[in-house]
Amino acid sequence: MNSKDDCLISAKGLWKSFKSGEDEISIIQGLDFSLKQKESISIMGDSGSGKSTLLNLLSGLDRVEKGTLKWRGQSIENFSTSALSNMRRSFIGFVFQSFYLVPDLTVYENLYLSAKIGCKNIGSDEIQSRIDEYLEKVHLTDRKKHSVMTLSGGEKQRVAIARALISDPLIVFADEPTGNLDDRSSKEILELLLSLVEIEAKSLVLVTHNVDFAKYTDKTLYLKNGIFHG
Ligand SMILES: Nc1ncnc2c1ncn2[C@@H]1O[C@H](COP(=O)(O)OP(=O)(O)OP(=O)(O)O)[C@@H](O)[C@H]1O
Ligand SMILES: [Mg+2]
Repeated sequence: MNSKDDCLISAKGLWKSFKSGEDEISIIQGLDFSLKQKESISIMGDSGSGKSTLLNLLSGLDRVEKGTLKWRGQSIENFSTSALSNMRRSFIGFVFQSFYLVPDLTVYENLYLSAKIGCKNIGSDEIQSRIDEYLEKVHLTDRKKHSVMTLSGGEKQRVAIARALISDPLIVFADEPTGNLDDRSSKEILELLLSLVEIEAKSLVLVTHNVDFAKYTDKTLYLKNGIFHG
């Protein structure tokens, strides 16, 4: 693999503002960022500093105002929304603080839905065996047929981790994945996430308010006044 391919995300001089009444507030102000294959990076910063906004930009969920953003050396700004969604599915898996599972469905159905959309070229049998494999990896095999509404917060987040990985993306974006969990579950979830990312050779971008968790990643970046401070 050449060095260009090794860089999965490369962002230079990113800007993003939001309108607030008459005013326009710049949240991201000329920020540079890069993520390599198998690299793990923590992003820390005060509430409102723009961490989630930045993940939305880097993942193409929101459009950048100024600056360049490349995925594997390819500029993404000219892609249509649907082309970008398709690319994103095989590129980035997401884990959010609020889980975002479909409440009326079982654990299995939540994973099936995601895999069906994310793994377009794979048949139902293969999807089912992948679900079983990932349920084992997140230690939830015995909860397969349970409604996700009946699960604890930690169990819901384990389903969300399986969902993020099931389409075999290159990168996992985790935005405060332990923000809704107690200390013990937080530690368990973080350990599970880090070990799966390592075993499956994924890159990780972890947004966290926990300094101890950030220490487990290759590097930590602090977002303040719209740019990173090392
Ligand atoms: N769609 C939007 N429209 C207007 N303002 C927005 C929008 N999205 C985010 N903002 C503002 O941008 C700022 C950064 O928000 P963001 O959610 O990125 O912060 P954060 O660092 O993720 O905070 P937290 O740690 O609380 O999750 C906030 O002031 C927020 O109100
Ligand atoms: Mg946030």
